[in-house]
Amino acid sequence: MGRQHRTASLPLILPAALLLFLGATITEARVLRRVNDRSLFDVTSACKKASYPDLCKSLAPSASVGSLTGASIDVATSKAKEAAAISAKLMKVPGTEKLMKSTLYVCRDAFSSVADSLQLSAKNLKDAAHIDLMVNLSAAMSLTANCADAFHDWPGLVSPVADINDHLSKLVSNSLDLASTLKN
Ligand SMILES: *[C@@H]1O[C@H](CO)[C@@H](O)[C@H](O)[C@H]1NC(C)=O
Repeated sequence: MGRQHRTASLPLILPAALLLFLGATITEARVLRRVNDRSLFDVTSACKKASYPDLCKSLAPSASVGSLTGASIDVATSKAKEAAAISAKLMKVPGTEKLMKSTLYVCRDAFSSVADSLQLSAKNLKDAAHIDLMVNLSAAMSLTANCADAFHDWPGLVSPVADINDHLSKLVSNSLDLASTLKN
């Protein structure tokens, strides 16, 4: 009896489920379209103002230049913390030369200062304190050069953190570019 009941109602359940599913999809599409229309935000053109547009676009979706700047700052902050942690770790590898150790020490300090400045700039962005934002981001930008500069002082000493330093510089540079378009 139970089986009979199931088979009988199946043809009724299927179209109902299909309708529900389609209804949900159509509603979702409508909501998405509304969000897209309302935002009128073109990430591609906003990222054209950044030195590294592809890196900038990888932060999408963002709803505005402000949120794109915030995302860029947040990613840069994580990268700076990661670079500081890697420098600290390499410094402690047994058998590391004294010169390498002291240069990595400079890097670790520089990267953690970059992270500090970026965190301040994230606060500046929230507070809409544009001048502070630009000052703190500029400080972060110049601090990103400290590690590479320290290695340049010693030709023959190859930086083991050159790649992450380069990536970090690009992220901070983009953050600065985006922030500078927020207000003139
Ligand atoms: C950086 O941001 C902090 C926190 O908002 C602010 O107190 C400070 O004045 C800013 N630094 C500069 C140099 O503007």
